[in-house]
Formats: sequence, C-alpha cells, structure tokens
Amino acid sequence: MHIHRLTDRLGGLAFGGDYSPEQWDADVWKQDDELMHQAKVNLATVGVFSWALLEPEEGRYDFEWLDAHLDRLHAAGVAVDLATPTASPPPWFSLAHPDALPVGPDGTRLTHGSRDTYCVAAPAYRLAARRIAAALAERYGDHPALALWHVHNEYVSLCFCDHTAAAFRVWLRARHGSLDAVNEAWNTAFWSQRYTAWEQILPPRASQWHRNPGQSLDFSRFWSDETLAAYREQRDAIRAHSDRPVTTNLMLPGYQNLDLWAFGREVDLVSVNHYPTAPGVDAAAHAAFDADRARSLAGGAPWLLMESGTNTVYAGGRVLAKEPGDILRHSLSHIARGSEGALFFQWRQSKAGAEQWHSSMVPHAGPDSRTFREVTALGEALSRLGELAGSSVRAEVAVLHDSNAWWAMNVDGLPSSELDYLGPLRRAHRTLWDAGTTVDFAHPEHDLGRYRLVLAPALFLLTDAAAENLRRYVAAGGTLLVQHFSGLVDERLHARLGGYPAAPLREALGIRVEEHRPLAQGAEITLSDGSTATVWSESLRTEGAEAVAAYTHGMLTGRPALTRHAFGSGQGWYLSTRLDDSGYRDLVGRLLADAGVAAELPDLPPGVEAVTRYAADGRRWQLLTNHRAGTVPLPEPGHDLLTGGPLHQLPPGGCAVLHRP
Ligand code: GAL
Repeated sequence: MHIHRLTDRLGGLAFGGDYSPEQWDADVWKQDDELMHQAKVNLATVGVFSWALLEPEEGRYDFEWLDAHLDRLHAAGVAVDLATPTASPPPWFSLAHPDALPVGPDGTRLTHGSRDTYCVAAPAYRLAARRIAAALAERYGDHPALALWHVHNEYVSLCFCDHTAAAFRVWLRARHGSLDAVNEAWNTAFWSQRYTAWEQILPPRASQWHRNPGQSLDFSRFWSDETLAAYREQRDAIRAHSDRPVTTNLMLPGYQNLDLWAFGREVDLVSVNHYPTAPGVDAAAHAAFDADRARSLAGGAPWLLMESGTNTVYAGGRVLAKEPGDILRHSLSHIARGSEGALFFQWRQSKAGAEQWHSSMVPHAGPDSRTFREVTALGEALSRLGELAGSSVRAEVAVLHDSNAWWAMNVDGLPSSELDYLGPLRRAHRTLWDAGTTVDFAHPEHDLGRYRLVLAPALFLLTDAAAENLRRYVAAGGTLLVQHFSGLVDERLHARLGGYPAAPLREALGIRVEEHRPLAQGAEITLSDGSTATVWSESLRTEGAEAVAAYTHGMLTGRPALTRHAFGSGQGWYLSTRLDDSGYRDLVGRLLADAGVAAELPDLPPGVEAVTRYAADGRRWQLLTNHRAGTVPLPEPGHDLLTGGPLHQLPPGGCAVLHRP
C-alpha cells in the first residue's frame, strides 16, 4: 500500500499539538478555530484520551461528537493526527476486567482513576484495544482531515501480573527452546534457582535480595516485544482501512522499557516527545540529544517532534518556565535535526484535572499572553520553512546506543551504583555538541562504514556480532573510542572469560583488561598527562596498543589508563576510567582532529549551534542558534528564511535558517 507523506498532505512542516475539545464547549471551539488560524496551526492530535467518550460502554461506540470535531477542523484547514485512545482505558473497562489492571513488582494491583491503567499482556485489554482501533479506522480511514494515525500514547508502563507471567513463559520458550537452555542462560545452577517446570518461572517480581540478572534482562526484552506486538495489532487493524501513515509517539530519553530501534522499524514515521530536564543551555543540549536519537531511530528518514512543552522544563521536582525565545530555539533544534515540524502538549491548558498546571499553546491567561504570542511567531516561522520538508541530515560521527546494553546495566548486582547508561551517552553527545559536530546514534551491529569516528561510551553488553562489527570497522579505517565497563558480557550476560572486552574487540583495541578497580565515592585520581578521573579504574595490559596516559596511584601506578592501537587502517582507543569534563573534551577533540572531522561550520565560534539539512536535489539549509552572550557576525551572510531577508549577524539567543543555493 502506498503510504502518504505527512508533509505532502500538509503542504509544509507540521505545527500544532494535542487537542482535547471534549474538555470545552462550543464557544471555546469557535475561539479555537480562530486562534489556530491566527497561529497557523495545521495539525491537531485528537482523541488521545477519548476512550470513555468514544466507547461509553463495552462494544457501544459513539462517534458523532468526533465526526463533528473532525469536520470542523477540516473546515478550518487543520489536518488531524487521530489517536487511538488505548493509553487510558475508561473506569467501566477496569471494573469489567480487573485482571487487566497493572500489577507492580511487589504484587500491588493498581486501580483506575489515572491513566495507563492497563497491562499490555492482558488478553481483555488487547482485544478491546484492537477493537477500538479497528472501529476508528473503519470510520475515519479516509476522512479528508486525516493526515496521520497516532497509535496509543507513549507505551511506557510495565506490569508483573499473572498474564504477564504467562506471556513471558511463551516468549522464553520461543527464545531459548528448552527449559535447560533457560537454566543455562540464567546460570540458575547458582543460588539454587534451577527451574524444573515452565510454570515456576515468574517475572522479576520483588524478592529477598538480588534478582537473577538474566531473568531481568530477558524480561526487559520480552516486555519490549510484547508491547511492540500490541502496537502492531493496532497498526495492522488501521492499515486494513487506511493509507495514511501510522506512528506511535516514543518518550525520549529516560524511559527505557522499549527497544526503540525495533519500534523505529515498525512505524511509518518515527515520532517522539521531548521534555528537557534541565534549564538554559542544557535544555538545548537535551533537545539536540533527543532529536539526534529520533533521526537515528528513523534510519535518517524524516521524523516528527510529536510533543514538547511551551513552558515546560522538569528540573528537580519543579516545572520551570522556559525563557523567552526557547519555544522557537527548541523547536528549531529538532527541525534542524530532521523533524518535519513541531507539535506540543497541549493546545489549550486544562482548566482542571490531572495536568491543569502543565503548560500549553493557549495558557490559562488566554491569547493575550507572551506564550501565545511566541506560539504564533513560531507558527509564522514554520510556515516559511516548508521547502525543508523531506530533506535530511549528514553526520560523520556516531555514538553507539543499544537498549540491551541499557537494560543490562539495570540488573541487580553491578559493582558500582555510579555506573549508569544514560549519563555517559549524554556526556559523549554533549561533548560533540559543544564541538559543533553533528552526531548520529547507531546500533553496535549497524554498518558503521560511513562514520569517521565512533564513540562507545557504555556498551557493558556486547554481542559476538557487535564485537566483530566493531573490529571490522576499525580494521577498515575507522576511529573507535571504547570507554570503561564495556564489552564485558554477551547477550546472555555471561562474562567474557580470559580478559575483557570481547575477543574481537580486544584485537582491535590491542589491550586486555584483567581487573576492575572501582574508586571510592568522591575519590579523584590523576593520570600521567595531568587529567583527573573518578568513579572507576581498571588494570589492563597492552597487547599491541600504546599507552597514551597512565595511572599514577596505588597498584596501578605506571599502568595504562588510556590507550591507542593502530589496527588495520584504523585506530582503536580505549579509556579505562571516567575522565573529568575537560580531559574528556580534550580527548574527544583529539579524536575528531585525528579522524579528520571538522565542526559543521568551523568558521563559527563555539556556542553557535549549526546543523545542515540537505535536499536530494542539492539545495541545503543551515539552521543556526546563537547560545553566546554576544552578537556573532556571520562569516558568510545569507538569505534567512525566518525573516525572509539577508542576514549578516546573529544576536544573542537568535536563530536563523540560511538557504545556501
Ligand atoms: C507526555 C504525555 C502527555 C502529557 C505530557 C506532559 O509524556 O504524552 O500526554 O502528559 O507528557 O508533559
């Protein structure tokens, strides 16, 4: 079936947000039409939390109210991103099917009265979700307002109930083939954990001490697969009636219950939600991190920022307000990295209810407000960027990212609570972002041949295939940096025996790690090059590599801390400790220089963010944001699409989209 491109239908980039007209009355709907027109909104996400209205009792659907809104939006020139409402089952559903309510690891069954009160493995929930998706698709599959299908909303919840246990066992049989293989994979020979019947196996519920790590990792994989199956059922029910693209909005970056690479392959358009967790320039770096991940999950294809907040930064238990101009800056950061538009949660701020204090495009204060003025200015700006639709981004550097490695670092029993997955990834990305380099994320088994430099900040788990892939990458001329605590276990979490990391990678790096020596909390060590490091150290031997910096303390004195190995036509670097920020920045700077990677626009000073989007026909656009305190003259003035005129300098906080013929 030919799937229509979203931007073709919209005639440009998407702009709008979650729209719940069911919270309001006809007077407000009329004002919504006017304000959406004023703000140049062209896409509204409708129906996300509408299950209780759409199916007021089991099997009886009421679509007339939705018909009216879709027709109204269509008449107002706003296309619809129609959601299936399955993230929030109505109370009648939970009362009729209490076994479909989610259960926590400690056995507590949750009740209705919130949202996400479902277990994705519960048969009654799956059936009800398929039914309502099919009913919506049948009714609206070719509605003229319909531009996109939005399955569910953020598949993020977990469940440990008996339905989950039953489905987990089916999954384990398919993955491992036999109970003996499960026992072997999980090394149940230890701690008297041997299973003698499938029915004995449970999800990793609360237990006395460490839960079995293999069980926990397999459970994460299972849960992602189960959730993906639930998504696919809805998608296929929709596809039977509709040729519009289907997506589900992924929550980046903190929720790691899904293998997002797998979701990226199953959606017609990757869409993500982004809410920064730090203010100021950190929020801009967070936006870039998530946007680069979204593009990578999409395999480089266009994707969509489905949700962000006009005034929402979650930091330390507070919701901080964005600074004036952030609405444009953050949206452009996503668009620079391939998003086909910018959407928000939500159009109009709820007057009451669970998200009453969440920011929106039309705040409680109404349209006469700074927020709405900035929203309108953004709509105006995006309406001028239609020519960017379908263009793509090029990166010469990749950061490796694998959900399996992430899940593996969440199991019980790791040697330091300061070892984490996301932190090192963010840091690697941030360091490259500060250097003005455009970055992809890549899976360790992807073909890496197009990258000059690859960073592996956190690859605790590494499959044989990935280790071999990395070896080949270096042999063929790539520059690879592997950081501490990487390549230690295979896909079953079995340690690599005979020295870390996995053998083919050892060959590429020319080292062998023999012993881990975690550092005490707060302890700082100095390396022979004067840089300092914390958290971790390792006793390693070079086997062909040269020591670039050595430890200077304790039993590791004189032993290599940072190594470089000329292997094949490439370079394999290994960093066995956690360098401080300036040491890490210097190292990454050196690797960029060695690998011949220049900043995206080397003539611009640090602090000016720049990304280029390329069209297939040779046109290109440079998207710039000035994070510096002063005005920056542009070495190469150009035509700015945002203002429609020539641009010679960028004021502090200013943005530009320069068309380079
Ligand atoms: C998103 C969610 C929205 C809304 C928003 C608030 O994660 O999809 O429905 O709750 O968070 O930040």
